[in-house]
Amino acid sequence: MLDAELEGRRFIVVSNRQPFAHVHHKNSIRVEKPPSGLTLALEPIVQATGGTWIAAASGSADKETTDANGRVNPRPPGVDYDLRRIFLPPKLHEDFYTGFANSTLWPLCHIAYHQPRFEERWWRAYEQANKIFADVVADEVNGQPAIIFIQDFHLALLPQLLRERCPKAVVAQFWHIPWPNPEAFRICPWRRELLRGLLGNHLLGFHLPYHCNNFMDTVDRELQVRVDHETNAVVSSTGAGTHTRTMVAGFPMSVDYPRIQASANTSAARREAAKLRRQYGHGNRKLAISVERLDYSKGILERLHAIERLFERHPEWREQVEFVHIATPSRTTVRAYQDYAHAVESAVAGINGRLATPGWTPVQALHIYVEPEQVWNWYQAADAVVVSSLHDGMNLVAKEFVAAGRDNAVLVLSEFTGAARSLREAVQINPFATDAFADGLARALAMPEEERRDRMRRLRWRVSHYDIGAWARDLLRAIRQREFDAQDFAIQSAIVSGPGPRQPGGADFPRGGRLACAGSARTADFAGD
Ligand code: G6P
Repeated sequence: MLDAELEGRRFIVVSNRQPFAHVHHKNSIRVEKPPSGLTLALEPIVQATGGTWIAAASGSADKETTDANGRVNPRPPGVDYDLRRIFLPPKLHEDFYTGFANSTLWPLCHIAYHQPRFEERWWRAYEQANKIFADVVADEVNGQPAIIFIQDFHLALLPQLLRERCPKAVVAQFWHIPWPNPEAFRICPWRRELLRGLLGNHLLGFHLPYHCNNFMDTVDRELQVRVDHETNAVVSSTGAGTHTRTMVAGFPMSVDYPRIQASANTSAARREAAKLRRQYGHGNRKLAISVERLDYSKGILERLHAIERLFERHPEWREQVEFVHIATPSRTTVRAYQDYAHAVESAVAGINGRLATPGWTPVQALHIYVEPEQVWNWYQAADAVVVSSLHDGMNLVAKEFVAAGRDNAVLVLSEFTGAARSLREAVQINPFATDAFADGLARALAMPEEERRDRMRRLRWRVSHYDIGAWARDLLRAIRQREFDAQDFAIQSAIVSGPGPRQPGGADFPRGGRLACAGSARTADFAGD
């Protein structure tokens, strides 16, 4: 199905995070998957297309499992695509990844009240790392037609670097995190360079139309380009009367619904789920869980405050529910993440110290990595899953739970996740409003069985009708649509602009003028929206 959309072209996915790493374990080497919703969701697509994935190495045994051409060789069992690894020098990687990506861009784009830091050295490393990625991608494409599909905020400069070097390729990028409003973004000293880099894309995708609008407003304020809201496109001059056109559209990312649902419903998975319930929910008690990376944007402290408030405002729930939070340590080289991990540990200890009774621990914290299949077993075991992100592009945990959870389980979901736009039957909460959040938890726990089933049925309908396959198809179709639009655009802009005088400073588009471009960008619909 996806092959038809590729029309015989190679499909090359580029991301910082690799879909699997090789790690030394005792006397052997094992394959480990990272705690990244991005790689988990994208892998079935690359598998289905037999494409090539280019990403930075991260495992202790990556070198010895990679051949002279940078390819993982042999491929691990069940992997039907090539993984080409980039080995960034350690210091460069630290400044690029720990520095600019995770201490500048991540807090800049998430309104989670963590101040971004702007260090010249990190910015230089970010530029350098993007150039290294460009060299490897251009080498891989080798001047041939291809679809290059770049992922996320680590690689904002890459599209522009590739446009000249890969003239026969279509360059598309998906930005997995929120795009903030222009006021928030303008504090970045290198905002224009980042925007120009992104406008190297033929297609730029976000989860929500809201993020698209923020991006277009930002570009409109910062650069001399034409923003065409009618066709969701940004047209920029490349000098000498030529223009490039970037289509900007929303594609709400989803999960591999059939696979997750099937995996969570085997008899082995059900047995495992029953075991987890006995172990953590202690039979009659309700079991409410959370699954996330140990990251301040996930609102873990806010959730812990709300849990404590629940037991104050609704004491009938004491000893009746256990909260288990599974938070995988993440970006542990970033200082803010180290501090956050300590703050979470002490908050958990504080709640348990104040409230625990013999035989009842209100909150159990598992700060470990859990394999995806085991996470799905946890979803089967849970009466409720609580997602409390302060700001989240989409949040795929919510959608995975809908695919894997029981028919009578409840989803409690932060209204500041992209997923909240379509998952309307979740109990939606504001993680900043502690009392109301606590009441939302109480409402979810006390919800009658019939209502729980009805809500879950509707949620399942939504996620199953727009799963990861639909997301990929929509993106690839938008790329094809863009190619038709671009042909029309080239013809019509030549007719309209003619050989007339250009604006000073290279501004080809007087404000308020008419933009001639045909066709219209399509925005992916939410299932049921
Ligand atoms: C978010 C980002 C991804 C990233 C993932 C895990 O989902 O959007 O790009 O891969 O977090 O973070 P990490 O830094 O471990 O790759």
